[in-house]
Amino acid sequence: MLSPQAVVIDLAATLIVGSVGVLGAWLMRRRTTLSARNLYPPAGVGLALLAGALGAHRWDVALVCLPLAAPWVAAAVVGGRWRSGDLGAGEDLRNHELARRWVWQPATQLRDGERVYLRSEGELVHERRWPKSVDYVSMTGLAAHGPRLPIGAGQHVVMFGATGAGKTTTARRLIAARTLTHHAALLVLDQKGDPEDVQHMRDLAAQAGVPFVLFDSQDPTTDRWQPLWGSPDGVGARAVEPIKQSEPYYYDVLRRHLDVVCKVLHAAQMWPPSVPLLVDACQPGNYEQVVKISEGLADDHAALSRRAEAHGTYVNSARGTQDLSGGAFRLEVALALAGRALVTPRETPEGESVAVRLVEALKQRAVVMWRTHADTMPDEAAALTVLALADLHDAAEQAGVQWTLLLDEFGAVIEMAAQRGVAILQRGRSHGGQVIVITQSAADIDALTQRPGLLASLTDNFAGVVAHRQTSPESRDWLAKLMGTRSLWQSTAQTGAHGHTHTGRGSARRVREFRISSDTFGALARGEAVIYTPIAGQPARAHILPVSLPHGRATRIDPDGPRTPCEIPVYPEHQLPAGSPSDGVPPTKRTGPARSL
Ligand SMILES: Nc1ncnc2c1ncn2[C@@H]1O[C@H](COP(=O)(O)OP(=O)(O)OP(=O)(O)O)[C@@H](O)[C@H]1O
Ligand SMILES: [Mg+2]
Repeated sequence: MLSPQAVVIDLAATLIVGSVGVLGAWLMRRRTTLSARNLYPPAGVGLALLAGALGAHRWDVALVCLPLAAPWVAAAVVGGRWRSGDLGAGEDLRNHELARRWVWQPATQLRDGERVYLRSEGELVHERRWPKSVDYVSMTGLAAHGPRLPIGAGQHVVMFGATGAGKTTTARRLIAARTLTHHAALLVLDQKGDPEDVQHMRDLAAQAGVPFVLFDSQDPTTDRWQPLWGSPDGVGARAVEPIKQSEPYYYDVLRRHLDVVCKVLHAAQMWPPSVPLLVDACQPGNYEQVVKISEGLADDHAALSRRAEAHGTYVNSARGTQDLSGGAFRLEVALALAGRALVTPRETPEGESVAVRLVEALKQRAVVMWRTHADTMPDEAAALTVLALADLHDAAEQAGVQWTLLLDEFGAVIEMAAQRGVAILQRGRSHGGQVIVITQSAADIDALTQRPGLLASLTDNFAGVVAHRQTSPESRDWLAKLMGTRSLWQSTAQTGAHGHTHTGRGSARRVREFRISSDTFGALARGEAVIYTPIAGQPARAHILPVSLPHGRATRIDPDGPRTPCEIPVYPEHQLPAGSPSDGVPPTKRTGPARSL
């Protein structure tokens, strides 16, 4: 006979190991990809042994079998219930359940350290490990944890946020990391150009030990920029780029005209021409001079001379003169970029005419900043942005170095610069560039450009999205959708007594909700943002840690000094020669044989 004491101890042990079984089944469901079906065979064997012992009246054997079978049976019962619940949930939970494995089957290899597990309320979480091949900057200063943004070529990032929400401060952390760790050149197109931004870029250049170049369209002491370089075809195309979007008719007219003018200037070794020279040379009234120059060219340019002469018929026709006058005027407005100083080369003490070319600036890993003053001169700012993007597009290919481009407040010029913006994102991916686009609201992009779908196609290009506080409801909703949804169990409670009591009954159903609710984007504090990278998978809300750099003295271009490594010699005349070509192009002024700079 069994003592009652032994039975009590046995039952207590059975309860304890049964609970351990339930815990094991819970862990198996939450943290592993093993199916609850693995528990059925041992539970079945345990039950069979127990039933056999009871049938044979072998109480002593039954007492041994009971605690042995209990964990398996308990685990199989609860595991089975959870399994049928998951199968009934549909969607991701059902698929996850169906994909679970038997213990002898190998675990499915998930890509790059991805981990899938269940959180409370049946939320299926896909956690990805940051790939070793992608460098990053921690946005909160916690190196191992917290949200990160990728740094590297093609890892473009877009930042949204209402005015004063902290976009520029966030971008500075990213560009400082990229400039200092990858030694990438930095180009900043700042539509507002606050003095604080200038100071920060100067400090960054000092810290990186690279030259600082500042182009300010409203400052007569600005550094000088030479956007015209390369082949005559390249210069012709780039020069008319700023009016392509706004003046498509004049764009076509000028494109043909500039083709002839640039080829003649190139053949006459008046190359590369400064912007003022090109603007002067494309005036229809000055075309006679262009033809004269072409007539003075060597015999091997005979075909070009004939073409220049034939083109004269169009230029001198009433229609040609009218169109070209309009085109030249618009080109002058667009290229003079609000103040001629910016695009007029400076003179060195040696008498050389020089200006900064982006190819050289990129090779020097310089920090180059354009202040465009979009608030007071929106059209000029847009033209300057388009020209800078077109210049960088070609320069990146030639320089072959890593670079970062910051397009701050891009919404201010997006109407005209959208196309070039998309082009530079693609160029960055193939030619060592990382682009950071800052704009106030996601909804602006389609609305301002009148191009529905542009936002979606732009988004495909980004490896990171940073959302600061958003005011527009459309923008908040769009961001909530972008960051994705998760599905959860939602329970309801049945009430009684006209809603005064709970009956204890209820139901559960599967619902989908946004990972980050639309309202969250409206409630973010200054300096706080939601960071989302497809690499990490899950969006995270965080306070961005501003970067602080010591004040330093960056190398600047001395306006009265010799040519610096960022500058190239430019053809010195700013106007076409007035008389015959030989009078007008004095040999001493020539920069040597025509070079395709
Ligand atoms: N992460 C942060 N921590 C502390 N202060 C911050 C943070 N981000 C921004 N600030 C402060 O908020 C102010 C505005 O920041 P910032 O210029 O970066 O905003 P913005 O969104 O670029 O604004 P704007 O639309 O005017 O360009 C600054 O004074 C800055 O010091
Ligand atoms: Mg800003």
